[in-house]
Amino acid sequence: KILILDFGSQYTQLIARRVRELGVYSEIQPYNYPLEKIKEFCPKGIILSGSPSSVLAKEAPRCDDSIFSLNIPVLGICYGLQLMTLILGGKVERGEKREFGSATIKILKENALFWNLPLDKPLKVWMSHGDRVIQLPPGFKLLATSENSPVAAMGDEKRQFWGVQFHPEVVHTPRGKKIFRNFLFRICQCKADWSMGSFMEYIIPKLREEVGKNKVVCALSGGVDSSVVAVLLHRAIGDKAHAIFVDNGLLRTGEAQEVKEVFTKKIPLNFHYVDKTKLFLKHLKGVIDPELKRKIIGNLFIDVFEQEAKKIKNVSFLAQGTLYPDVIESVSFKGPAAIIKSHHNVGGLPERMPLKLIEPLRELFKDEVRILARELGLPEVIIKRQPFPGPGLAIRIIGEVTPQRLSILRKADKIVLEEMRKANLYDTVWQSFAILLPIKTVGVMGDERTYQHVIALRVVESVDGMTADWARLPYNILERISNRIINEVSGINRVVYDISSKPPSTIEWE
Ligand code: XMP
Repeated sequence: KILILDFGSQYTQLIARRVRELGVYSEIQPYNYPLEKIKEFCPKGIILSGSPSSVLAKEAPRCDDSIFSLNIPVLGICYGLQLMTLILGGKVERGEKREFGSATIKILKENALFWNLPLDKPLKVWMSHGDRVIQLPPGFKLLATSENSPVAAMGDEKRQFWGVQFHPEVVHTPRGKKIFRNFLFRICQCKADWSMGSFMEYIIPKLREEVGKNKVVCALSGGVDSSVVAVLLHRAIGDKAHAIFVDNGLLRTGEAQEVKEVFTKKIPLNFHYVDKTKLFLKHLKGVIDPELKRKIIGNLFIDVFEQEAKKIKNVSFLAQGTLYPDVIESVSFKGPAAIIKSHHNVGGLPERMPLKLIEPLRELFKDEVRILARELGLPEVIIKRQPFPGPGLAIRIIGEVTPQRLSILRKADKIVLEEMRKANLYDTVWQSFAILLPIKTVGVMGDERTYQHVIALRVVESVDGMTADWARLPYNILERISNRIINEVSGINRVVYDISSKPPSTIEWE
């Protein structure tokens, strides 16, 4: 196993992910993790992360210098390399120019860290630093240089200390994985015996320890993240875990039923189904403004959730399915930036209820959560479910949300999903759904004039929902969807396809 000491870089979790991908267990600890604990953990190697600080700053974070006396291989990345240099007697200076972005390095001689990487060709890497090493510590050899970093990599083969100025953990360093592989298997002699199954073995006892005898609630939405959290908690603490599912009446056809089935029959757990269909619709009456809709739904959800959670006595924790990308986003993008859409989740709850937050998926990425979901035996309908917004169909009905409009949209949406699944396209796109527009247009059915509503079809491809492009669906699929909606859904006589990308549009229409 590998210990990663975190000096605050936004890439630290990526280091952990790369190590995990290679089948080696890793743990991230703060940079000042006590030496005793490190010895107890007994890692086969230590990785020092990057940092937003400068090693030359007065308050620069510093690990215990004695980690270099443990006889354990160390890899320093960026700040980690510079700190290693200072501790072991080399020199670092403030660079005149910051080096940020793509760069190429030249590997100078064959060595274990760059083993099997080309010596004669420049290697593409990702740099992000201000300071640079100008004098190697005694015992080190220069392994690679770049234009702006005379020391792009260094190593002391005898003591097994290695440092790279660039970031091998990001995808912009295409051979980064190879470098980690060399460090883990050539240098640290690790074995590749870690999988998401082992993550379960690690997280379940950890959860048990964290919550002790207390009760935990989690908001179950039916999406993969919250479902995994609920099942993990159930495995960890059994009936002390309570999953609350609020039916706001704004879900897709059959969705509430499906979730209920799964968590009462397939994976039975302490499942609280709260039917608040009428309440939500009552509050949405006459509301047209998208932000107002979102606010009303978000606040109601919190009210309902709070009431339900209070019914379960002595709850002390709230579990959430926050993933790693949510963590980085909230660190690096949050701020007073303009609110484009107020996304709703249970974020506002801890301020209203004295609940401690636990986020067991904080270190994981979506694809890792999906693997975990499979290991936990969740059904495919949940594992592969496309993202669905908290405010549900309310933001896919432009204009007022009424029971009749909901019914029209549900029928159209069901057809979209059926056809996407039938064509094996459901899993290949990010989202595919229908939107009900408030305008009416003229059509002709049989020999009769019709004057009915329009359905817009939105199918997008995306990696993370931050940017998206409309899917180039085959014409015959578009044709089938359109024909079926117009023939089968009364009240609709026209279907249009949304060909806008995000940005400048957004995925949802409201
Ligand atoms: P937009 O419309 O902002 O959506 O391009 C990006 C992604 O986020 C989903 N979405 C939400 N998810 N609560 C959520 O949990 C919300 O309030 C919400 N609004 C949008 C949207 O479906 C897309 O995947």
